[in-house]
Amino acid sequence: MKNNQAIGMFDSGVGGLTVLKAAEQLLPHEQFIYVGDTARMPYGPRSAAEIVQYSNEIADFLVNQFNIKLLVIACNTATARALPTLQERLSIPVIGVIDAGAQAAAKASPEGKIGLIATKGTVDSKRYQEELADLAPQATVLAQAEPDFVKWVEADRFEDSSLQAAVDQHLAPLKDAAVDTLILGCTHFPLMADLIQTAVGPSVALIDAGKATAQFLKEYLAEHGLANQSQTVGASRLFTTGDLAAFETIAQEWLGQQPGRKIEHLDLSQTQV
Ligand code: DGL
Repeated sequence: MKNNQAIGMFDSGVGGLTVLKAAEQLLPHEQFIYVGDTARMPYGPRSAAEIVQYSNEIADFLVNQFNIKLLVIACNTATARALPTLQERLSIPVIGVIDAGAQAAAKASPEGKIGLIATKGTVDSKRYQEELADLAPQATVLAQAEPDFVKWVEADRFEDSSLQAAVDQHLAPLKDAAVDTLILGCTHFPLMADLIQTAVGPSVALIDAGKATAQFLKEYLAEHGLANQSQTVGASRLFTTGDLAAFETIAQEWLGQQPGRKIEHLDLSQTQV
């Protein structure tokens, strides 16, 4: 294993870019290869078997084409459904987003009321609820699926203030229940953080599971001697299985310009070996 190999990352679409952005900021000496499986998103309503299959295909692409040193599942739904399979199948470390998110929420509200918004797949998997039952047994957890938020983000409407009333309405049950902490348990949701914060009120702590994961990644690389020691770092490469122009617009808006960063279309059916 060479420390100057890239780190792989994937999501069903643009959501994982929230993890990528945090990771790029914390780890400027690492190269990231990102896949957004936009052609097959949303993952939220899909079966566990489908998500495991898609995750395996993407992981194989990243391992075979880029010889990545570590894989980050930058998607809560894929973490909930495919993390153990990928950890078993791959010979490199695989990190998901749920552990770090649950830990950050437990720390923020050990005895309080924790809200969770995520996809249906993540909510139904009960992964967050089970982790929080262990980490913060005194806390109450209220979980709510928010598939519409994923659609709005993918449609580049994450800063569209005309959606505020709809977001308020969606989150009213959590506001009425007086949650003090809200886990953004879908990597798409931090793009909508302003709309979400306005809906629940300024006193509610938003937990960005992606940011917490980027911090964990930094510590993991250091502890396992995997951090890149070389001064030369390749620019990130981003792939989408869906519409390139739409993905590019959101990626550039969210990540800003980075010299050398390449955004390409990927046809996974052409990459299977
Ligand atoms: N961004 C993904 C997550 O964190 C899923 C969105 C979707 O494809 O439904 O769960």
